[in-house]
Formats: sequence, structure tokens, C-alpha cells
Amino acid sequence: MQIQVTSGRLVDQPADTYVVTVPQGSRRLSGQAAAVDGALDGAVAQQVRDDLITGKDGEVTVIPGAGKVPAKRVVVLGTGKRDDPETADRLRARAANLARRLRGMEAGSVAFAVGDGTGALDPAEAGGAIAEGFLLGLYRFDQHHTRAADRASGSIGDLTLVEPVARKTAAVEQGAERGRVMGEGTNLARDLANEPANLMTPSIIAGRAQDVATEHGLECKIIERAEAERLKMGSYLSVSNGSVQPPKFIVLTYRGGRGNRFIGLVGKGITFDTGGISLKPAEGMQAMKGDMSGAASVIGAMQAIARLKPNVNVMGIAPCTENMPSGSATKPGDVVYAMDGQSIEVINTDAEGRLVLADGIAYAKSQGCNTIVDIATLTGAMSVSLGNVRTGVFVNNDRLWSELERASERSGERLWRMPLDKEYEDQIKSDVADMKNTGGRPAGSITAAKFLEKFAGDTPWAHLDIAGVMSAAGDKGVLVKGMSGIPVRTLVHFVLNRARG
Ligand code: BES
Ligand code: MN
Ligand code: ZN
Repeated sequence: MQIQVTSGRLVDQPADTYVVTVPQGSRRLSGQAAAVDGALDGAVAQQVRDDLITGKDGEVTVIPGAGKVPAKRVVVLGTGKRDDPETADRLRARAANLARRLRGMEAGSVAFAVGDGTGALDPAEAGGAIAEGFLLGLYRFDQHHTRAADRASGSIGDLTLVEPVARKTAAVEQGAERGRVMGEGTNLARDLANEPANLMTPSIIAGRAQDVATEHGLECKIIERAEAERLKMGSYLSVSNGSVQPPKFIVLTYRGGRGNRFIGLVGKGITFDTGGISLKPAEGMQAMKGDMSGAASVIGAMQAIARLKPNVNVMGIAPCTENMPSGSATKPGDVVYAMDGQSIEVINTDAEGRLVLADGIAYAKSQGCNTIVDIATLTGAMSVSLGNVRTGVFVNNDRLWSELERASERSGERLWRMPLDKEYEDQIKSDVADMKNTGGRPAGSITAAKFLEKFAGDTPWAHLDIAGVMSAAGDKGVLVKGMSGIPVRTLVHFVLNRARG
């Protein structure tokens, strides 16, 4: 789908479908909706008078063009109560829901009247929200259905955003372009995470990272097992012991600033989590193909960053491996050493995410990362506390927290700050090593974060536990059933804001 921006009047656009917006409870049409209504001899206004069009948020009414306008149909989209302030988040969700409706009606090429009702929004933000909404809402993962009838039907042509005010067109266009990049980065993360584990092994994901790097001009380094051994990444490697798939530690580097300091993005890349010797129950285990969602979000964010070119340095790090049981697997009670020399008693081999992140974070520090954000489907306890609505954030630095909060306001991906009181650390004290990898049932997400904090040390660090939000149960707003691609857009906004200073 192409997304274009043009200035002018909707009724002059050659498109199959026009979209105009009307707010709730207004008796009179205005802006581009009024112009289209005029061309249709008052057919829209008539439906408003008859209460067939109420303007309720998300309401979709189709009116035939009947040869009076170039388009075959005019879609009237309700934007809700005028008093509810229009936000990028509402516009994005409305655009995503609309995009699926348009696809269902085989809408062909679409010309969308921007400006009406989005007046309160900055034009770049409006353009970005609509572009993101369309790209995210239309996403689907159906390539493994070999019969066309089993794939979701419907298609949609190109999208043209029509901005009547000429001096705003450039901003809408800039915003739409950034929205496209954000949407495509998120959809890349969704593609990687939706793929089943037999088709998304550590080697395959490393190949995909290499492809992204080649296409968009990033440096890509894959640390193989032998090199990881030389680097003494004993914690990460202990997770791979039970698998026949070779582990791959992915490093993507973007250089947009001066010097050798980086923002480090570290994503958990467990391509399948059986639990290892501490085997998980069979019920629902297939969901663990998504246990590399953190790594996927880092690769998706790095693609977007490479395309948007902010003037800051970013290193994307994704320690990837399977977590399998076998004769060579790590056993409960084993003691392993991370690359920074700290020792860990492995109480439960199913608490493997923190083991790979320990070396991911230690490696980030060794490479000059002076801010580290890790992203991980780390604990089932996270979805117990925050469900699928908010990502839990553990952060050792108040400034970094405000930066993440700001980025999340832009993306609409909601965060919630979680505690890191020192008392929680008592739960991960080990009798035989510097720490143990589980802290028992109480505060399971917090003790996992306390474990990671020991590797971050004094470096400003944030840990995003995305276990609850990694997937969506159905289509709703920008979310489509399956993997969510959260928090790619938040990470990219965070980096862009850093670059702006
Ligand atoms: N990958 C899981 C966490 C998870 C569970 C993510 C459900 C998404 C959905 C993680 O590796 C894990 O198994 N965590 C354990 C930790 C426990 C053994 C301390 C858990 O949450 O049960
Ligand atoms: Mn696990
Ligand atoms: Zn896991």
C-alpha cells in the first residue's frame, strides 16, 4: 500500500473511495464533509437529519457516489463527541478499525480527508497517526495457509491523505512518512514473533537481522558459540546447552552521532522456551514461540532507526537461543558465570530469560552503552499484575523513566513504573553463588528485575517486561490477533527524542 499526501479538495481526487469525518451531535456539516455533501446534493446531511449518521466514534456509513463525485462510494466516519479531545492515540485506533472495514468492502484506492476534526492535533502527528493506524490495522500473518479460502479475504489500494490547507501539507507528509517507518518496524517485529519456532530458529532470526542491516545500512555482527565462549558468556550459553540449534548473539549497530557511546537496546531472544529441565506443562506451551518478542522488537526498532537516521548512536543486542531439555541441558543447582564475572545458581531452568539478558546487559556495558533498555517476555507474573494493557517498567534512573514515559505518550503503548526496593533482593540470595535465578512466587516480576539490576550496576537502565502485552487475543484498534509488536514504536520515539535533545 502506497501512502501519498496531497493538498486540495477531496472532490477533485481520482479514487474509488472517499472518507470524510463527522463529529457526534453536530447538525451542520463543515469542511471537506460539507463540500462532498454539496456534490452529493445533500445526501450526507439528509442522513444526519434522519439520525442514520450520528457521528459516534468509529461509526461507518457508506453512501454511493452515484456518478456525482469521481469516487464510487463515500464513507462517512464518526469521530465521537466534540468535547472529547482528539488525540493521536484515538485517531490511530479509529484509522486502524476503519482500514479493516475498508478492506472488507474491497474499497480500492482511498482518499481520506485530513483536517476535519483533527484540528486540535499537530498536522504531522495527525498524518503519522493515520499512516500508522492503516499499516498496523491491516497487518496479517497468513502465509502458512496454503488454501486461499483460509486466508482472510479483502484488499485495499493506495491511500491518499487530502489536506486542504496547503501550508500544512508538508508536515502531514513528513508525519505520514515517519508513521510508515514506525508501522513497518512494528510489523517486522510481528512477522518475526508470529513465525513458529521451527521456522524462526536462532540461525534464521540472525539471517533476518543481517538482511535488515544490509538493506538499511546497519552494522551487523553475529557472535557465534565459540566467540561467546571466549567472551565468557557462561550465563547466556548455559541456556543453549540443551538445544541442537546453535545460539546466535546478534549485534546491530547504528552510528548517527559522535563518539563511541551508545544507547543499548537489549532484547530477549528465546526462539522457543520449553522451560528446559524445569519443563513447562504441555497446555499452552505453543505460545512460547513468541518468547523472542523482545529480540524481534529490537530488530524492528533498529530497522526504523536506520531509516529515520537520528543523530545518536544505538546498539541493538539480541542474545538468541532455544531453551530445551536434553542430556546436555543445564540442570537445577548448576552454577554458571556471566561475562562480567558474577556467579549464578540456576534454581529453575525455566527462568532462562534473565540468564541470557545478564550477558546481554554485560555485553552492552562492555561496548560503551551508557543507557540500556532491555525488553523481555520475562515473567508470567507480569501478566498477572498488569494484564495485556500496560508494559511493566523497572528503572534505576528517574530521568530515564520520564524519557520513556514521554515516548509512550507519543506511541500510545502504555507503560507502568514498577518498584525496585532493595528488600526484594533478599529473595534472590544464594547459599552457593552471588545470586540465584529465581526468587519464589511472591513479586516474581520484581525479583526478576532485581536480578537484572545487578548486571546493569550504575548504568542508567530500564527493563520492560512485555510478557503480558506480547500478543493480542483479537483485532482491536492497532492490534491484530497474534503478536503485538509492542514496544517497537515506543523505543523509536525514545531514541528520536534523545537525538533531538
Ligand atoms: N518466557 C517465560 C515467561 C512468559 C510466560 C512469557 C507467559 C509470556 C507468557 C519465562 O521464561 C518463564 O518461564 N518465567 C517463569 C519464571 C519462574 C520460573 C521464576 C514464570 O514466569 O513462570
Ligand atoms: Mn522460561
Ligand atoms: Zn522464557
